[in-house]
Amino acid sequence: MRVKSFGNTGLMVSEIGFGCSRIGGILSQNGTGNDTIKVLQTALSEGITFYDTADMYSQGESETLLGKAFSDRRDRVIIATKGGYCLPSQRKLIARIKPLVRPIANMLGIKRQNLPSGISGSLSQDFSSDYLVNALEASLRRLKTDYIDLYQLHSPPKDIITGGAYIEILESMKKQGKIRFYGIAADCIEDAALALAHPGISSVQMPFGLLDKEALQSVFTAAEKKGAAVIARGCFGGSLLKESLTELELKALTEKWPRILEYRKIAKLHTRPVLEMALQFSMRVPEITVNLLGMRTTDHISLNLKYAEAASLNEEEYAQLLAV
Ligand SMILES: NC(=O)c1ccc[n+]([C@@H]2O[C@H](COP(=O)([O-])OP(=O)(O)OC[C@H]3O[C@@H](n4cnc5c(N)ncnc54)[C@H](OP(=O)(O)O)[C@@H]3O)[C@@H](O)[C@H]2O)c1
Repeated sequence: MRVKSFGNTGLMVSEIGFGCSRIGGILSQNGTGNDTIKVLQTALSEGITFYDTADMYSQGESETLLGKAFSDRRDRVIIATKGGYCLPSQRKLIARIKPLVRPIANMLGIKRQNLPSGISGSLSQDFSSDYLVNALEASLRRLKTDYIDLYQLHSPPKDIITGGAYIEILESMKKQGKIRFYGIAADCIEDAALALAHPGISSVQMPFGLLDKEALQSVFTAAEKKGAAVIARGCFGGSLLKESLTELELKALTEKWPRILEYRKIAKLHTRPVLEMALQFSMRVPEITVNLLGMRTTDHISLNLKYAEAASLNEEEYAQLLAV
């Protein structure tokens, strides 16, 4: 696994990062999370050192699992988490009754997306100093650590990003040694560009991949000029690029389906898996520090490492993907 400098922070990170939004949660196969802990430890033994989570992923369970997996090897991993979303009380209740609900839901074969809407709840955000201080303390507890390598604001709206009121509290957390660096996990390219205007920001996270190519125009250059690390996410289109999806499923899931079918044709032409081409497309951008891949299983890890080590895209392949 290649390692890269994380902007100008001095940290070194694996170029493939583990996206932890899909670990834990109400429908995890194993109520105790032991399988997931093994998956995370396998990832580290395979050289993946960067882990991106958030306090709200699986109502805190994602952070808890990371804490269990890595508290005895803390210095070997770079942990990036996020704050800013409030967990509605309904969600907290669900987190408490989850061990009871999960086996029943599994037994009945209920899929996550079919759960009652009350479980997803409506999410509000808070980027005030008081809120972030408490959120950080809770994340530290769940992660079983006394410092976080990268603390990110989780999808702040434009006015919050440009206002910059959060810089003071993030600087104070940094001075106290509770966080090493801070950044912004942006919802879109425009927000990432706005975030880069703040001097203290060490990283931006944003969507990039075959289904989100816009960042190629400008943001990467701006980040490099500033010395900020770039965390690219959604390389597999949040799983829309999976070849197991039927054409009918794709049409129901996304309006981008015609592009996905085009990518499938190109991949077939070059006898490569679509996901391999998608990953190689993102790995071709030198300004990207980490490509986050959402993973849940050891199969995901071994396949994705194989895709990462595959041949780089040749000019013809790259041009064809770019043209879609
Ligand atoms: N606003 C934010 O800050 C924000 C927003 C979104 C994401 N993120 C971060 O970015 C990370 C990645 O995002 P993402 O998980 O939505 O998107 P992604 O990486 O594009 O897609 C991940 C999904 O692709 C499938 N997959 C992965 N490897 C595979 C393989 N080898 N073969 C077949 N399928 C495979 C899995 O789907 P199945 O689970 O269906 O198997 C997996 O859940 C998240 O975990 C999170 O850390 C941050």
